[in-house]
Amino acid sequence: MFARRVMVVGTGYVGLTTGACLASLGHEVVCADIDEAKVGRLRRGVVDIVEPGLAELVAEQTSAGRLTFVVGAGAALAAFEDGRPAEVLFLCVPTPMGAGGVADLRAVESVIEEVGAELAAGTVVVNKSTVPVGTAARTAELLERTDVAVVSNPEFLREGSAVKDFLGPDRIVVGSDNQDAAERVAALYARLGAPTVLTDAASAELMKYAANCFLAMKLSYVNAMAELCERVGADIGDVTEGIGYDRRIGQAFLSPGPGWGGSCLPKDTHALLQVADSADFEFRLLRATIDTNTRQRQRIVDKVRLAVTGKRTGSLSRVRLALLGLTFKAGTDDLRDSPALAIAALLRQAGAELVGFDPAFVEGKDGAAPPTEIDGVPLAADAVSAAQGAEAVLVLTEWPMFRTLDWSVIATAVKRPIVIDTRNIVDPATLRRAGLTAVGLGRRGEGDVAA
Ligand code: UGA
Repeated sequence: MFARRVMVVGTGYVGLTTGACLASLGHEVVCADIDEAKVGRLRRGVVDIVEPGLAELVAEQTSAGRLTFVVGAGAALAAFEDGRPAEVLFLCVPTPMGAGGVADLRAVESVIEEVGAELAAGTVVVNKSTVPVGTAARTAELLERTDVAVVSNPEFLREGSAVKDFLGPDRIVVGSDNQDAAERVAALYARLGAPTVLTDAASAELMKYAANCFLAMKLSYVNAMAELCERVGADIGDVTEGIGYDRRIGQAFLSPGPGWGGSCLPKDTHALLQVADSADFEFRLLRATIDTNTRQRQRIVDKVRLAVTGKRTGSLSRVRLALLGLTFKAGTDDLRDSPALAIAALLRQAGAELVGFDPAFVEGKDGAAPPTEIDGVPLAADAVSAAQGAEAVLVLTEWPMFRTLDWSVIATAVKRPIVIDTRNIVDPATLRRAGLTAVGLGRRGEGDVAA
């Protein structure tokens, strides 16, 4: 294998995972970030994000001398052994959703401004962030360098399994109008032996949106199907199991929930809708996917209202509710666009009093005390304390620990024995044995309380 000198700008989920994993594949990697304190922590081996295996990989690759951290993209240029130049520059900076759903490219632009002119001839600039179609072309324009190629190499990492996804990818996608540069980027991953799609830049950029929006559509479909199950007396678990055996559908990504969230799916669905709008294409399917998701959050609130008050229009004013799980999914401490927090906001608007618990926030970061509240939701130290005096317990994130809680102890703590499991992860029979009423999504026999 041919080891390359790789510079990664941005040490968020994507950048840090990319840097550490590329180093583990044998490349010499320098990661740059503008956050000086963060770089300091990374140099000490402190990884802020909860990502299984990442801290270990960072420590291992740092001590092997293949991974270093510097402040600022400019410093990265000079940080390779013997002062040799970087051969590949990965842009892993945030591309948040700006006004009207268009991705905000200011971070990409500022990196180019800082180092664009300094790059050695023949360097390949790789866009790894999810960016609108046309960004590779726009990056090339900003660069104003005919001797530096731009390649789009979208990542398909999931938070919570980013390292595993990087080192065992379903596919590698590399797009460029410069085929030689695309092949050089694809070669960085050669050891992984994954199927590789070599294409043009616009197709690679669109592929990332196409994948995330398809996943969002799959989930909105499942959530709508769960609602239909409640109305016709069917069971969503059986229905998804049955359809999942069809290899064209697959079992993955079929769990109903409080709506999809996180830093990617909501941003990318809106951005693709924007792309479609500006191409004068009415993407009704995508709009319905987003609307179904927005509605899902209200649907959970309606379920809580009905379960607690017995009426669809009952009042939640001063009703104490325990919220188990606040992150956007299990296995992460990420709260961005978390459906749990969106539901908490709706419940608070309806007058409910909330207490939350999330296993991701039991300990503070880097020696600090754990937070006492998140987004206005006061935090309890454990699930039982959160449930104390509650009129309903809501399971909002699929943390495995919620399955194995001692629900009989929770039953003694609550004021009223209602558990609304928006992830269908806690065994309803266990809840019933503990004397609790179980309300899930789309489950047979719960129609009267769950509709
Ligand atoms: C998503 C994609 O899955 C990755 O492939 C992609 O690389 C990434 O976005 C990105 O663009 O960077 P991620 O945001 O980490 O990854 O989260 P997912 O695991 O996709 O979950 C998204 C949401 O769907 C979460 O709120 C999750 O709880 C929900 N979900 C997922 C369900 O409700 N049911 C399921 O069966 C699966």
